[in-house]
Amino acid sequence: MRIVSGIQPTGNLHLGNYLGAIRNWVAMQDEWTAKGATCLYFLADLHAISMPHVPADLAANTREMVAALVACGIDPDRSVLFNQAQVPAHVELQWLLNGTARMGWLNRMTQWKDKAGKNREGASVALFTYPVLQAADVLLYQATHVPVGEDQKQHLELARDVAQKFNNDFASEAAPVFTLPDPIIPPQAARIMSLRDGNAKMSKSDPSDQSRINLTDDADTIMQKVKKARTDPEPLPSEAAGLEGRAEARNLVGIYAVMSGRDVDSILAEFGGQGFGAFKPALGELLVERLAPIAARYRDLREDHTTLDAILATGAQKARTLAQPTLDAAYAALGLVR
Ligand code: TYM
Repeated sequence: MRIVSGIQPTGNLHLGNYLGAIRNWVAMQDEWTAKGATCLYFLADLHAISMPHVPADLAANTREMVAALVACGIDPDRSVLFNQAQVPAHVELQWLLNGTARMGWLNRMTQWKDKAGKNREGASVALFTYPVLQAADVLLYQATHVPVGEDQKQHLELARDVAQKFNNDFASEAAPVFTLPDPIIPPQAARIMSLRDGNAKMSKSDPSDQSRINLTDDADTIMQKVKKARTDPEPLPSEAAGLEGRAEARNLVGIYAVMSGRDVDSILAEFGGQGFGAFKPALGELLVERLAPIAARYRDLREDHTTLDAILATGAQKARTLAQPTLDAAYAALGLVR
């Protein structure tokens, strides 16, 4: 079993990243490394340059994201934790896969359509070929399982298509070059929504900080964001079916459910019939209680650049070794003489 996943170091880790992906990274690390599986978790710094960015911020955010991931429970002794920029094999394999990926496949990617918007002519080439780099990220390590939120599902499907076509075109059925990876998406937290709009996902790129809970927010900020979260005037229903058509209510109850490890029906059995005036303080307190230990560990680590850089250097060294056989096989399959 090979577990591989990445996150862009473009700002704070927020509750959507945590519940949709990072909690699963930690759970898979804790369950599977003890049984001999390898987990590779990386900062997708190369993906981050597909949008306009400030170089000094990228460097600072990269270190901060390492601190945040370790604070969440990623253990650099058990998982391979690194940044793409220190493992050139990612870029090399992307170029090799550019020969296999089709323009039509990339044109259909919803992230490309959303981020390029109407200004496709002005979008970077990196934004367009972004999913090919993402395919390289996972295929390079023969990933079998990729823990992600729902929004990355389409990119993972593309990675499978690229792997399949490359194997068909350049390898024998008996000795494929790439493994087809399976996305692992948590059913309850696949899509955590914005606190300001229950139909938009919680995201780092939302200009309003009120739309998300950052893992580094202090207790007062968390309580204030939850209390100000957009809701409707109705009381909470007593069964899950009553959340239909109530996107904001469904999101808040869903967050309460995953954070408390209970199911939605049991939350509604407790809060059904009550208004948000009662539910929001309970949700805020639960978030503060669960996130406080992570924030404390993060604060201890974030200034220690020597330790953070050493974690990345060690992780990159291991990743380069793990990547080499697949990269060599891909060059050879294409008939490239080295
Ligand atoms: P990124 O940095 O946007 O997000 C990191 C992870 O957090 C998940 N996520 C969410 N899950 C639920 N609800 C939300 N509101 C929410 N927002 C974010 C994402 O699904 C993701 O799992 N392209 C990727 C990074 C990447 C990658 C990879 C991932 C690069 N190469 C290879 C997996 C495998 C991205 O930008 O994620």
